[in-house]
Amino acid sequence: MNVLVTGNLPESIISTIRAEHRVEVNPKDEPMPRDQLLSAVADKHGILSMLTDRVDDALLDQAPHLKIVANCAVGYDNIDMAAATQRRIAVTNTPGVLTDSTADVVFALMLAVGRRVVEGDQRVRQGHFKHFAPFHFLGQDISGKTLGIVGMGRIGQAVAKRAAGFNMPIIYTSRTRLPAEKEAAMGARYENFETVLGESDFLSLNVPLTPQTHHLVGADQLRLMKPTAILINTARGPVIDEIALVQALREQWIGGAGLDVYENEPFLAPGLIACKNAVVLPHVGSATIETRTRMAELATQNLFVGLRGGIPPNCLNSEIFT
Ligand code: NAP
Ligand code: GLV
Ligand code: GLV
Repeated sequence: MNVLVTGNLPESIISTIRAEHRVEVNPKDEPMPRDQLLSAVADKHGILSMLTDRVDDALLDQAPHLKIVANCAVGYDNIDMAAATQRRIAVTNTPGVLTDSTADVVFALMLAVGRRVVEGDQRVRQGHFKHFAPFHFLGQDISGKTLGIVGMGRIGQAVAKRAAGFNMPIIYTSRTRLPAEKEAAMGARYENFETVLGESDFLSLNVPLTPQTHHLVGADQLRLMKPTAILINTARGPVIDEIALVQALREQWIGGAGLDVYENEPFLAPGLIACKNAVVLPHVGSATIETRTRMAELATQNLFVGLRGGIPPNCLNSEIFT
């Protein structure tokens, strides 16, 4: 069958696919331009897609033979699920294999913002490290501080696990409350969103982007946070109103932010770059060699099953098979 791989994956992965199917690969380390994507899907039975590809009605209309879209990401807000389901096209994601890597980046950002790691590195490189001084260049402790988690799914729980090593009391809010035993084992207390906003010293967003989580954190929510609080977003950019965040960072409504994702990637809201109390990463939550390889392998497995007409292991719309 005909397969489109929209991202530049390692040759080992591509040759696995090529052993069974005809493959077209985007050879560049940048998203396929929309017009190329729309023409490339015309004869394809399967797409191994990236989170930068918008899979919507307009694209699916160009792809009459399509059986499966295997997204190489756990988030699938780039895909119009209703449009795919209506056409009985299977959609899959890559859950689980990137949980630990992404939770690690949550901590990398917490430590980087709290302890001013990036600023400190710049200072040394610029020749400004002249002497040790007892009350110079101070950050704030991570250990012992209250961690708030919004969205207690796979990644949220992996963040909680790490927080135990830092002796952090954990409060959380989520769509579905965890069973009491799980809460007790994690040492996590369930609270409403406003309480989590108001009591957290560090606040990690770990929800998917949906209509319900779009701008979940806006000006009103930022105003409820402590003036020292550090907001971490590795979820999706539009979960935060980024314009409001810039104002909050500038005017010290909150202490700082650690961001891996942005509302209009790869662009940042005006003024964000100038905020010294923010650490900004280029969407690298899952970006390790081990994890990206596992993601590509899992997406390939899903793709193969979908092309055979089976129910792929990570199918997000299995109702199309009933
Ligand atoms: P997950 O296991 O599905 O966890 C998401 C959690 O959010 C679930 O507990 C879910 O509740 C909860 N939730 C959903 N809607 C909510 C709402 N409106 N209010 C409160 N809680 C809500 O997903 P995951 O594997 O942890 O991944 C989470 C997200 O992280 C992904 O969707 C993706 O966007 C992002 N991500 C980013 C990177 C990166 O590179 N920066 C890497 C991986 C993932 P239920 O239990 O009721 O479903
Ligand atoms: C990365 O952002 C993912 O959703 O896998
Ligand atoms: C710091 O370097 C110390 O020894 O306390």
